Amino acid sequence: MIETTRLPSKKLEEAGRPVRLIQYLGSKLNVLDQIIPDIKSELPYGGTCVDLFAGTTVIGQSLTNHSSILSNDCLRFSRLFSDVLVVGPKDKPAEVPLPKLSRITESKHYSNNLEMLNAVYAEALAAEEAILRAGDKKGLGEFCETLPTWWKDEKHWLEYGKIRNFINELDLVAKRKIPSSFPACLFTTYYAGNYFGLKQAIEIDSTRFAVERLRAEGQLTDWQAKAVLVALIAASSRAVGSAGKHFAQPLIIHGSTQRLFALERVLSDRMISIATEMQAAMDTIDSKASPPRFPGKSFLVYFETLVDTAKKKGATTAFKEFFHVDRVDCIYADPPYTAQQYSRFYHVLETLVLYDYPPIQTHPLRSGGFTQGLYREHRHKSPFCSRSAAKDVFEALFLIASQVSNSLILSYSSTNNGSGNPRMIDTETILKLGKKYFREITEKTIRHRYRKLNREEKNKRGNDPEKLYIFRGMR
Ligand SMILES: C[S@@+](CC[C@H](N)C(=O)[O-])C[C@H]1O[C@@H](n2cnc3c(N)ncnc32)[C@H](O)[C@@H]1O
Repeated sequence: MIETTRLPSKKLEEAGRPVRLIQYLGSKLNVLDQIIPDIKSELPYGGTCVDLFAGTTVIGQSLTNHSSILSNDCLRFSRLFSDVLVVGPKDKPAEVPLPKLSRITESKHYSNNLEMLNAVYAEALAAEEAILRAGDKKGLGEFCETLPTWWKDEKHWLEYGKIRNFINELDLVAKRKIPSSFPACLFTTYYAGNYFGLKQAIEIDSTRFAVERLRAEGQLTDWQAKAVLVALIAASSRAVGSAGKHFAQPLIIHGSTQRLFALERVLSDRMISIATEMQAAMDTIDSKASPPRFPGKSFLVYFETLVDTAKKKGATTAFKEFFHVDRVDCIYADPPYTAQQYSRFYHVLETLVLYDYPPIQTHPLRSGGFTQGLYREHRHKSPFCSRSAAKDVFEALFLIASQVSNSLILSYSSTNNGSGNPRMIDTETILKLGKKYFREITEKTIRHRYRKLNREEKNKRGNDPEKLYIFRGMR
């Protein structure tokens, strides 16, 4: 049983305040006060709730002092967030506070990797530093275009002899077999000059390398290594040079599509220090790690896999197989509602976790060329992001939830054909399907607070309300 029973209520309240360490499409951080009370009214104190599409885990984090959270998502970085922020450290006195970042950046692993890459890229690092110091936008565009990466055409990087040799000798097949091998150079050779600056990419690689080695040597516990990795994800998400801080594609700052706005943005993004952002994220994680919580678990279950198993073995057996319990008090479901695949918008964060030097998807219309976004091959494609698949998968959600849970709480957005971002299923169909499996339905409109938008933008978003549906009582 959790130790929270004797905690004063103010401390309990603070323990439940969540952190969102990355900007995330569809995050519920700003509307938690409108959702958490409804979940709590379906969830007894000490009960169990599945957060089926956890994303940044802010919903689960808000409930850890109230009940056990089974936190699930199809993306690995989300699972890492669950391990660190929902499940928490196994051995608090030994694992919290986290070591200072300097323990990692002063390790021999970090400095070996950094020094090796710094030697290869010395000339380019000096050029980047001079450009950033001078605020030279034109220079930045040219630098990014000519900086070598393994996937670029060689004509772009004639002047960088040492780097050219390093990249020509880079054996991606061998790297894919042993991704942890020295030197760690995935971000440097894939994303420097596009999503990140060169210095930033070298620091990300060196940190990733040191964390893995320190974990293997037992100098970081499993939870600490995960926490530092979450902080690295947070820092990378702050530093990325893209619109909206996602990874659908980097801001283009060279060639014919070059824009002043993009250059200014990227110039300031490139000045973001990975180390400073990481330390800030580690301090935040520390502040969340100690308060007591109910035991939780993290999962990486693709909903469609659960559905396939449920079809073969029945919903209850499938649910038990994947989530290790027969029944829960409630399921909170916040699936995607547009065609935008999360695996596309956050592929770089998946790669940071997997660190597997992935093959990159080629552009269907450019022979042998790659997409601007440099997407990993074989990304997960969610059926919730497909008009043709959404209805079936929603029906499966209702069927499974009605058999394993007392209630299903669903976040979804109303259809808005004018927004240019149509929903995959309309709310009338959702309600019709829900009524097939549940006797009682409550509907609530969620009001977003768009303080920074002008009136026109507010009107546009105002036509696009989010809904919270609560389904109870199996038919
Ligand atoms: C709207 S977001 C959830 C946001 C989350 N509630 C928050 O506040 O951060 C939807 C999530 O569903 C996940 N997802 C999409 N398709 C999935 C699937 N088929 N199985 C499991 N998770 C899926 C995505 O990775 C994404 O994190």
